[in-house]
Formats: sequence, C-alpha cells, structure tokens
Amino acid sequence: MLSIEWTAQSGWAAPRITPYQNLSLDPATCVFHYGFECFEGMKAYRSTVKGKPSIRMFRPHSNMRRLSRSSVRIALPAFSIEEMTKCLATFVNLEQKFIPDKRGYSLYLRPTMIGTQKTLGVGQPKSALLFVIASPVGPYYPTGFKAVSLEATSRYIRAWPGGVGDMKLGGNYAPCILPQLDAASRGFHQNLWLFGVEGYVTEVGTMNLFTAWITPEGKKEIVTAPLDGTILEGITRDCILALAREHLTKEGWEVNERKFTVGEMAKAADEGRLVEAFGSGTAAVVSPIRRIAWDGGIGGTPRDIMIPLQEGKEAGVLAERLWKWMEERQYGDVESDWRLFFPHPL
Ligand SMILES: Cc1ncc(COP(=O)(O)O)c(C=O)c1O
Repeated sequence: MLSIEWTAQSGWAAPRITPYQNLSLDPATCVFHYGFECFEGMKAYRSTVKGKPSIRMFRPHSNMRRLSRSSVRIALPAFSIEEMTKCLATFVNLEQKFIPDKRGYSLYLRPTMIGTQKTLGVGQPKSALLFVIASPVGPYYPTGFKAVSLEATSRYIRAWPGGVGDMKLGGNYAPCILPQLDAASRGFHQNLWLFGVEGYVTEVGTMNLFTAWITPEGKKEIVTAPLDGTILEGITRDCILALAREHLTKEGWEVNERKFTVGEMAKAADEGRLVEAFGSGTAAVVSPIRRIAWDGGIGGTPRDIMIPLQEGKEAGVLAERLWKWMEERQYGDVESDWRLFFPHPL
C-alpha cells in the first residue's frame, strides 16, 4: 500500500510504499466520529499492444483532481495532482505483478483520504492520511451484459442543491444502502435517484445515467443530467459524452447535458420514442437498464417504464458500442490521451 501523512504543521511527509497492513488509530480519531473520509475508484490495465506488453492507468489525473476536491470540501488538505499521480504510477509500477494479463481484468485502485487527528472536538483536522490499496478484479459481466431493473425512489433523496452529492465522500454512500436494500426486497437491482416534485432523473445506484430517445420534436438525443452540484462528475460519464460527441453526432445524435424527468421518460416509452437507458461508472463501464418502476409522481399511478433492448440481447446498440469504444481505449487497442503509460512493464 501507498501511504502519505499530512500535518497542518509540516505539510505532506514523504510517500511510503509498504506491504498491505492494518492501520492503528486511536478510538478518538476524528474519521470514526465525524466522517472525515473521501475516496476514489480507478483501474490499471495490462495488455499487449502491437506485440509489446503494455500497462496503463486510465485517466488518473481526473481521479486525483476529484479526490483533492472532495478532500478540500471536508476541510482536509489539497495536494498536487501531478505529484500524486506520479506517486500512484510508482505504486502501480512496483505492484504490477498484480495486474492480471487477461482481457476484462484489471487492478482496482482505491485511493482514500482520512482525517487522523485524535479529538472528539468537531473542527478542521490537523492531521490526515492519504493511502492507496489495490486488488485485481475480474470482468463485471463475465457472461455478457445483464440489463438491470430499477426502482425510481421518491422516498429517499441522494443529493440536493448546496449539498455534497457531487463529492466522493464516504458519508454519501452509507445512507444509500438502506434504500438499496428496500428496492432489492422488491426485486430491483438498483435505485433510480430522482430529485424534486418534478421527478428530475439524477443518477442510478452509484452510476451516472444516460437516456437515448427521440424528442417530441423528432430529434435523436442522448442526454444525461447536468453537473449542477447534485451529480457526481463521473469520469466514465465524461468519456461517454466525449465518445458520443466524436462518433454519434455524425449519425444525427445530439449529445446534451440537461435536466430531464422520469415523466418524460415514461411519455417517451408510451409513444415509442425511448431508445435506450444505461448507467455509467468505473466498475461496469456501462450498465444497460430494462425496466424502471415509478410511483407516477404526485397524484400519479404506479407504472413500469420498459426500455428497449436488442432482440435476444441484454443491451441496446448504443450501450454496446460505447462499452466497446471505452474498452479499446482502456486496453490500448485505440490510443487516446486518457491513458498514463508505464515505460517498462515486466
Ligand atoms: C454516485 C456515483 N455516481 C457516479 C459514479 C461514476 O463515476 P466514475 O465514472 O468516475 O466511476 C460513481 C462511481 O464512482 C458514484 O459513486
């Protein structure tokens, strides 16, 4: 594991890479009492490109930028994105034997920042620890896509304007487990998080959400919620927007970040205009959706919104293509600015 300590007095100490080990913390440490914790999820990939072994991290600067922003939001220190990315690269290079050499597999990295001051007083921590652990992971869909069913949740709200839903804080995740268990008890895989009496579609489980439809005006549109402070700025979301703009606008698709409602999705489904919907995130890359159960909003009637999939398949064409374009860039079949290379893979 990689560990870097920080104190208000001395700033950042020298980074250390040590064997994986327990942390020893005083029970009064502020992380246990007030939730001074934020984290990241990212991956490193191994492949053979043009006959040469290759190791690459995918968009590490973006993850480090997001971690530093999350950290500052909970009064923990910022850090240099460039220096921290170098530390991560050194760590991954040293531990590269743990990056599986198989398509679909990768090394999952979990950078984490915690407040470590020993105090029951609520205030800005005067010490912190940034650590990174890692684990090999297999493909999310070992036997091909599995489209999910969602429960549109109006009883619980994930994030709200002025809140911290756009930060990757541990405190955002624990409160979402009970709603998820609730939805699971009724047979749903995930919650579709809505906001407001309008029923704005925000995110799905721990993923951003994309909808593809024909608008009432007859335009082909791929749409996702805008970064208004209630949406986590997903790195996969950003890639999908870029890939859709690069490849799909020339096929007539408009790619937009704007507010839309679950009611609009229901109407599009009724009028045969709903084309696809899928979640996006580091773990699954894309997660096709087949059904959304919705209570119909205020005064409405509960109903299902059925989302088309390809005949005999568990995904729509767009989800399939976007997933492929992502994988090609993660493993280096197609070069892009999104990778950080390692010069001497073993
Ligand atoms: C709430 C939430 N939304 C979206 C995402 C997707 O973000 P990314 O694409 O960076 O994994 C995540 C995953 O980290 C998340 O936790």
